[in-house]
Amino acid sequence: MLKIITVIGARPQIIKAAALSRAIRTNYPDKIKELIVHTGQHYDENMSAVFFDELEIPKPDYNLHVGSGSHATQTAAMLVALEEILLREQPQALVLYGDTNSTLAGALAASKMHIPVVHIEAGLRSFSKAMPEEINRIVADHISTLLFSPTISGYRNLLKEGFLEGNVGPYSADNPRIVHCGDVMYDNSLYFSKVADQKTNLLHEHQLEDGKFILATIHRNNNTDEPARLSSLFRALNTLSQKKQISVVLPLHPRTAKLMEKNLDKELYDAVIGNPRFHILPPVSFLEMIALEKHCKIVMTDSGGVQKEAFYFEKPCVILRPETEWVELVECGTAIVTDADEVKIIAAYEELTSSRNLVFPAIFGDGKAAAFICAEMLNSFL
Ligand code: UD1
Ligand code: UDP
Repeated sequence: MLKIITVIGARPQIIKAAALSRAIRTNYPDKIKELIVHTGQHYDENMSAVFFDELEIPKPDYNLHVGSGSHATQTAAMLVALEEILLREQPQALVLYGDTNSTLAGALAASKMHIPVVHIEAGLRSFSKAMPEEINRIVADHISTLLFSPTISGYRNLLKEGFLEGNVGPYSADNPRIVHCGDVMYDNSLYFSKVADQKTNLLHEHQLEDGKFILATIHRNNNTDEPARLSSLFRALNTLSQKKQISVVLPLHPRTAKLMEKNLDKELYDAVIGNPRFHILPPVSFLEMIALEKHCKIVMTDSGGVQKEAFYFEKPCVILRPETEWVELVECGTAIVTDADEVKIIAAYEELTSSRNLVFPAIFGDGKAAAFICAEMLNSFL
């Protein structure tokens, strides 16, 4: 039996963990024992608990209740608590997702104890260390033993950073194995897409018609914390809703909800709040999010996960950031990077909604990435 600990903390990691837990339950119940540690980085009911219930993720074995704070406060508290658990549980590997402070803390705590780190979503780069996530993911990759990249470009980034192709085991942080394996979120999107429409009622509640609304999300720190950028984003959405007479659905991350009134121009804030076509919602569940993604006209987002899900559901996407790690989306022509530039956002909307020839090739695997990762872990560590 392979004993692993999975560390999660932020919303997208909780959702990603559903795919691996499901693959273990379905394919390897007698071969892999998974314990789940929730750092508590996200803690609101609609940022955490909702996903465990809805996505059938086993209840966490530990919750560190770290909560919000500065990067140092948050990461340090996680490190101390994780070390204690790793000493007690002695897992054979530690599984991490993505690039949050929970990822960084997990990678540091385990690697210093010589516990192999398995990094899912390895190799992604924005090439901007102004992003806290870029620092987290580079550090996590370079102290990991098994690195699973969801895209070819991610895999190539690892090669460029000196990782070697075709290493033979035994694997360690000094002799890591890199694999291109597809995206566990594609597994999840396929799996849950089948039930999203039946199990949710959000579109009906808000009288949203198929193909007649913009789905937007905004939560990146450089967008929420800089008044000029946040105002430019909201101005673009407000202008589009008025000129195109289209609804805008905006499930709002708590970070943005807390800063919106403070950081938007007063006049703009009042205009947005008073615009009947704007549906500003608290964070929605994953099934509700899928229903919105399946039925919107276009996605506008600074989220990593939501960019990809737009692609899975064959919707064009405007990326509200200066760059993206998911470069394949832009190369396919289904997504345009506009940053927080009002003029570029409106132009990208025009271009993407008038294009009839958008093609969404299968570049994120076959929907079985999580089962593949389980098999690789068993081969490497048992
Ligand atoms: C974090 C990740 C980011 C990821 C995002 C997913 C880091 C550095 N950033 O950003 O990569 O894209 O999660 O959503 O790890 N808050 C609440 N309730 C919650 C959680 C957060 O109110 O349940 C508020 C708090 O005011 C907190 C702020 O949101 O200070 C930011 O939360 P934090 O986890 O620090 O970063 P995110 O912006 O969520
Ligand atoms: N998501 C959700 N409800 C929401 C907004 C997002 O379930 O209100 C899901 C979304 O479908 C995706 C993940 O959360 O799977 C993305 O998380 P987020 O945008 O917070 O972080 P990122 O992917 O940018 O790290």
